[in-house]
Amino acid sequence: ALSGATSGDLAVRILHALDKSSPLLSAEAFPDATFAQLKSAVDRLASRDMVRYDPIERDEAILEPEAEEIVANGSHEARVFEALRQAVEGLTVQELEKAIGDKNVTKVGQGKAFKEKWISKTSDGKLKAQRHSIEDVTQRVLQDIQKTRTCSDSKTLADLKKRKLVRMQRIITFKIQKGEKFALEIPEEATDLTADMLASGAWRTTTFKPYNFRALGADQQSGALHPLNKVRAEFRQIFFDMGFTEMPTGKYVETGFWNFDALFVPQQHPARDLQDTFYISDPKVADPPQDKAYWENIKAVHENGKYGSIGYRYPWSSDESLRLVLRTHTTSVSANLMYKLASMKGPDGRPPPARLFSIDRVFRNETVDATHLAEFHQVEGVIADYGLTLGGLMEFMETFFGKMGITDLKFKPAYNPYTEPSMEIFSYHKGLGKLVEIGNSGMFRPEVLEPMGLPKDLRVYGWGLSLERPTMIKYGISNIRELLGHKVDLQFVRINPAVRLDKP
Ligand code: PHE
Repeated sequence: ALSGATSGDLAVRILHALDKSSPLLSAEAFPDATFAQLKSAVDRLASRDMVRYDPIERDEAILEPEAEEIVANGSHEARVFEALRQAVEGLTVQELEKAIGDKNVTKVGQGKAFKEKWISKTSDGKLKAQRHSIEDVTQRVLQDIQKTRTCSDSKTLADLKKRKLVRMQRIITFKIQKGEKFALEIPEEATDLTADMLASGAWRTTTFKPYNFRALGADQQSGALHPLNKVRAEFRQIFFDMGFTEMPTGKYVETGFWNFDALFVPQQHPARDLQDTFYISDPKVADPPQDKAYWENIKAVHENGKYGSIGYRYPWSSDESLRLVLRTHTTSVSANLMYKLASMKGPDGRPPPARLFSIDRVFRNETVDATHLAEFHQVEGVIADYGLTLGGLMEFMETFFGKMGITDLKFKPAYNPYTEPSMEIFSYHKGLGKLVEIGNSGMFRPEVLEPMGLPKDLRVYGWGLSLERPTMIKYGISNIRELLGHKVDLQFVRINPAVRLDKP
């Protein structure tokens, strides 16, 4: 065999063989070379015009292991016949089985030998040979196939294939002949034109390797979007389709003011505990606010109440408000944009209606487990308009979730410090067989909107959901750590398919 020989060796051997006789058939000249070895050698020579070649395709008949055994020991029926021929008195089935030493061979061979009338059964139940000699045609045919790798009788071949004794295999060999630049040695070829070659003039005499434009090239490690980014893109499209504008969410660090106080979250609220919120240690606090009036309004609405609210009745600390936190929700961003809306003027001189959304990262000091990380992504929407009602919010939710194939929503009264009324949104999950929470929503309180300077009749819907939950459902992931963090399999990210939310 050619094992150990490189294709280079084979290429030189091909040249020498062609020198003696051209064209040549690879199957005859190099019967032991594999297809891959031959192909690489002839391609190498052909790319230099040293040879030309044509592939010859043909189907060869290959013996299965059982057929090889028949070639060596005879067909099942012949073995049965032979065993009985030697036992003049005949054999019982058990004795025959023992003589042959193989239950299956005995069983199959017996049936066939009966059919050929090679054997018969005596009155005492014994098996006996019927003739002096037989011709084992099956063995002879298989021996033939082993030698020639073909079978001219198509009926016999079909039968052997059906009996799983023979299978066909496509073989590609080559007819090779001398090419224009035929020689006995393969010239050295340069792959690159170098500065040295130019300087010395060697490029004039150097043979360059031609480009192989058919080479497949190395597998490229291309970039890939993370599944969260793919689902995010789908959500963004839904928002854009519905006329929303994206909020700037680049700031992960917020003041307690925007994350909590502006949203009417009292300073004693458990969400503001160290156990729930990450506080920045350096720097600890932000610069004092620019808009003193707004801060005074927030202080007043927390401490004693304002705008018809009785407030929380506790001494409000501006130091607490200036503490820097990793934002715990994107509603801090929404608050900031609602504040900006208050100073905008529509055609009638009043703040214009607005549709805003954001999809970005938030942080919570959670105990990490299969479904919780200390950071995740929120999808959040805000609609500000005059004369909005709770019924309108419910209808909008039906439309919004309907766009991702989620229908038959259920609403459950809930509590958020910054919205009243608030509603959790549920949907029936077929896989889990129960209602699952898919989002949180509400109408922003006057205690949030009026300190900003927004008019009393401007109402604002808000709602939020996590990006991780729909992504995990879409990609069939049960552990959040397979999706986010240092344990993520990059190959999973690389090959996972584009996502399609089931849009109607
Ligand atoms: N911020 C809420 C949350 O963290 C979601 C929400 C946004 C609720 C806006 C009401 C209004 O789940």
